[in-house]
Parts: sequence; C-alpha cells; structure tokens
Amino acid sequence: AQRKQIDKVLALFQLTREQLLGVRDKMRAELEYGLKKKTHSLATVKMLPTYVYGMPDGTEKGKFLALDLGGTNFRVLLVKIRRRSVRMYNKIFAIPLEIMQGTGEELFDHIVQCIADFLDYMGLKGAQLPLGFTFSFPCRQTCIDKGTLVGWTKGFKATDCEGEDVVDMLREAIKRRNEFDLDIVAIVNDTVGTMMTCGYEDPRCEIGLIAGTGSNVCYMEEMRNIELVDGDEGRMCVNTEWGGFGDNGCIDDIRTQYDKEVDDGSLNAGKQRYEKMTSGMYLGEIVRRILIDLTRQGLLFRGQISERLRTRGIFETKFLSQIESDRLALLQVRRILQQLGLDSTCEDSIVVKEVCGAVSRRAAQMCGAGMAAIVEKRREDQGLQHFKVTVGVDGTLYKLHPHFSRILQETVKELAPQCDVTFMLSEDGSGKGAALITAVAKRLQQPRK
Ligand code: BG6
Ligand code: GLC
Repeated sequence: AQRKQIDKVLALFQLTREQLLGVRDKMRAELEYGLKKKTHSLATVKMLPTYVYGMPDGTEKGKFLALDLGGTNFRVLLVKIRRRSVRMYNKIFAIPLEIMQGTGEELFDHIVQCIADFLDYMGLKGAQLPLGFTFSFPCRQTCIDKGTLVGWTKGFKATDCEGEDVVDMLREAIKRRNEFDLDIVAIVNDTVGTMMTCGYEDPRCEIGLIAGTGSNVCYMEEMRNIELVDGDEGRMCVNTEWGGFGDNGCIDDIRTQYDKEVDDGSLNAGKQRYEKMTSGMYLGEIVRRILIDLTRQGLLFRGQISERLRTRGIFETKFLSQIESDRLALLQVRRILQQLGLDSTCEDSIVVKEVCGAVSRRAAQMCGAGMAAIVEKRREDQGLQHFKVTVGVDGTLYKLHPHFSRILQETVKELAPQCDVTFMLSEDGSGKGAALITAVAKRLQQPRK
C-alpha cells in the first residue's frame, strides 16, 4: 500500500509522449509569438534580439576583459586572442547574498571592486581595455552595447535595475571608482557567449543552450523572421529566454502541486515556470517538497519532518547528481543524506533516489522537447528534409548530472527525428565567446571612433 502511494506521486512526473509533444508544439507556438510584432508584447518566450549577426571567422584578435555574471560563479577574465589561439586568465569572485539582493549600486560597485582586484592581480592596474559583459539575465537590446534589464531571474533581486540599462549602470560604477577606463563594447547573454565559444571550433554551431542554475537557449534566426528589427537580410542571434515559457498557464496541465510550491516560495513567483521545472536552481527544491509530502504521509523518515528538511535550498544540483550516480551504493546515498542532516533507513534512501530520478528525468525531457521545437523550426524555415546542427552547451546541470544530458539528447532525437543534433560541451565558459563578440564589435565600431 505504501508503495502504491509513492508510485502515485512519482507518476505525476512521468510525462507521456503526447504530453512531451504538447510541450514541443506549445513551445513552437510561443517562439513564433515572440518573433511577431503583433504578439511580441504578450509572449512568454521573449525572443530578444541580440545584435550578434554572425559567428567569429578566425580573424579576431586583441586583448579583452570579460565579465561573466549570473551563473554559479562570477568571473572576471582576461582573454587574449591571436590568430585562432585564445589564452584566458580568470578569477572567480563571490557575490554575497546581501549584494545579489541589495541595491543596484551596491551590486555594480561590488562588480567594479572585483574588476579592480583582478586588474591588480594581473598586474594591469590602470589598463585601458575593451570589455565584453556576459550578463545572464533577460535584456532588451537596441544595439550590441545597450541592454535594459527586463527582470531579474534566478537568485538575483537587486533594486533599481529593472528597466535600466545595465551597461550604463556598470559605466557609472566604473566612473564612481575613478581608477580605470574600460570601454564596454558588448553585452552578451550567457547562451550567446556559449554559442560563440563553441562556434569558434565548430562552424555548424548555431544554437546555445544553458542547463545550469537557470535554463535558456539562443539560436541564429533569419532576419526576415525577426519583426522587431528592421532589415530582411542575413541572420541574427535571438535570445529566446525560454525559461518564461508557461507563464501564461499553457503548461499548467503538467505542473504538479510541488512545482507550484517551489514557484510560490521563489523570488519571482509566477515567472519562469519552465525554468523552474528544468534547471539546477529549482530541481532540488522540487525534490525537497516531494520528500516533505511523502514524510507527511508517513512514507519516509519515520514520518518525522526534520528542521533540515524544512530548510530551503538544501538539495543543490551537486547532491542530486551524486545521489543519482549509478556507481553509488545505497549506503553512500544514505551518507549524502546524512551530510544533509537527514537520517534515513535503507528503504528511505531508495525512495529518495527514485524521487530525484523522476524530477531530473522530467527536467531533461522537457528541455529536450523545447530543443526539438527550436531545431524543427530551423529545419522548416530552411526548407530542409534533414537538418544537421550543433548545439553549444554549458551549465552545471548538464555537466555534473549523470543522466540529464543523455535523456535530453534521446528526447530531441525522438521529438525531432528529421534533425541530427550534436551537443558540444563548452569547456571554456561564455567569457571566451563574449570576448570574440567584443572583438568583432570593436572592429566594426573602429570607423566611428
Ligand atoms: C558557465 C558560463 O560556464 O556556465 C556562464 O561561463 C554560464 O556564463 C554558466 O552562466 C551556466 O551554468 P551554471 O550552472 O553556473 O548556472
Ligand atoms: C535565466 C536567465 C537567462 C539565462 C539563463 C541561464 O533563465 O533569465 O538570461 O540565460 O538563466 O543562465
């Protein structure tokens, strides 16, 4: 009887083929809405123009500073590009919670402080360098070096930034410090940086995917389809911000009570619903909510909801990844739970592992269904029978989880059978891509300056 109750909960996370096809098709519809003038303002998938028109061609060169803000780590990098060889130096800096959720000025002052420390460390004090800013949040752009923050996502909630140009905010903070002069040439989403990083190696790469703290995709779209930008020639990279898919309720049929609880308890309730079902920042939370419910039903932890289990955020992606590793004996699963302050029996550990598996599997499948929508659209738009494409990928969920990438790929194959999709892991992060974009933008701006 207990088994039945547990299976009932797990079943909520098992999507049928029809449901996955539904996700694919609804995603496809939202992509189209986002691109069209008439429907754009209402679209949940924002389809933001990036003003990145093409891939690097190997002629890029120079010395660049890059910032990489919005993933697990905040990085400052120095990127040296010379004839197809790229050298990078980087340093990771912490962004304390009070800064992520303080005022905008404090956040940008902190960032500039980190740049100062980095320049000091590299012996480049007072250097004058072009800067590429990877800023992994939705920005409305009208050119490559302007970006108005639409709204914070993930764990950020600094005040007075939404609706502001974050490039200006960074510039102001640099001015306040009055110690160095940096030319901010490009603002780039992490998906775009990742696509560029991978595109430098593989010219077939025209899609960028992040499956990490958050979830998002960018891809090269035909200019004629991007109604928000004048001109019909060539292509431009579009940052889909697909994390917002479902914010109009269109996937409510597959959202569970646990998804709703996670959403309600988040910094941006009601927003980024697809992201909250598919990305690292939230999967552990879904697991925790299920475990609480199962415990409440007397099916786990001897029916005792411990203080730890009540604590938000205890299950990070890395724990899920460890628990689900096939090489791990159950005893080790129990040890991990112990580390998390959860006393488990052998039975408990089996159930916990199953719960983690169900949640991450659904995440990978939903992400795959979304990706199927993108590649199918690209195939159809080009009038191709078969479409061969490479997706540049980054993110801790994709990199660390033992099954996520496999299930994602299987799902894409299943739901987009006419596409041959190769996933290419980005080894160098998005900073390299941001520097390449900066190099191109810098070259193009030369006549002006
Ligand atoms: C990093 C990229 O490697 O991956 C970042 O350099 C990106 O730009 C990040 O945001 C995404 O992964 P995560 O798991 O750190 O959010
Ligand atoms: C969130 C952000 C998006 C970013 C993604 C991955 O969805 O809104 O801009 O690309 O996380 O970091």
